[in-house]
Amino acid sequence: MKEWTKQHILGIKDLSRDEIELVLSQAQAFKEISQREVKKVPALRGKTVLNLFFENSTRTRTSFELAAKRLSADVINFSSSTSSLSKGESAVDTVKTLNAYHPDIMVVRSVSSACLYDFDKYTQASIVNAGDGQNEHPTQALLDMFTVKEIKGTLEGLNVLIVGDIRHSRVARSNIFAFHKFSSQTTVCAPPTFIPYEFDKLGGVEVSYDLDEVIGKADVIIMLRIQQERQNSSFFPTIREYVDKFALTGARLAKIKKDCIVLHPGPVNWDVEISSAIKDKVHPLILKQVENGLAIRMACLYLVGTNKR
Ligand code: CP
Repeated sequence: MKEWTKQHILGIKDLSRDEIELVLSQAQAFKEISQREVKKVPALRGKTVLNLFFENSTRTRTSFELAAKRLSADVINFSSSTSSLSKGESAVDTVKTLNAYHPDIMVVRSVSSACLYDFDKYTQASIVNAGDGQNEHPTQALLDMFTVKEIKGTLEGLNVLIVGDIRHSRVARSNIFAFHKFSSQTTVCAPPTFIPYEFDKLGGVEVSYDLDEVIGKADVIIMLRIQQERQNSSFFPTIREYVDKFALTGARLAKIKKDCIVLHPGPVNWDVEISSAIKDKVHPLILKQVENGLAIRMACLYLVGTNKR
């Protein structure tokens, strides 16, 4: 296995298959730490991790914080809602200000990839993308891959079906890039208004507007949240119509392959993407994704924080 040489983790698009495998194997090694009585190792002792979240988050923010603490790093948490942004301070001035504390790693959730790439000018720290607008969410795709590999034993030759709000989804883009690096086939399925033209050009992505036609062929199904916060117009007539055609219901669950697994990055809009009647069947694996997210984020922080570039 090659050594890690990248300063930043900005997107799955930039990672090679070897680099993805390195993150997954490092996460596998770290996962066991969370089962110990003393859940801490000194791997990043003396390093400072700045969690810079310009958009709301539960899973990504808390898991990066906990990951840094489990590796013994010092952690600064910045959340826009409680910051001096409300007093008119700009995002760039915020980055410059917090950079004065000399962080080694900045974990950034930004409203756009333009912001994320711009921040690089104001810091020597490694940057880990915790979701940049509608572009990429690399650590989500990595934890999805880790979960798939844990259950299926492979990432190759799978039929991966991604259902829902593809248009606004950084998770969809990162997973498409990721699974293609392992020769797995991805199909996106949604109302036509949720599938932008460029998805035809991402290489090997199949497009379907009929969930019932494709659901039975999938080895992995990734259900996506409808991102109301990014929508300034209506992309489908009614929620009831969306649910009728694209929600995972008990009837549709009965049509999937016996060994097919269902993932969701969270948060779930129950009774929109997934029927609450099947919550008991699908929620345990969604929570397993959350658990695996911690190991993946420990691996990402460790690899960028200790590389000898
Ligand atoms: N999946 C995900 O990114 O969730 P959060 O927005 O809660 O971090």
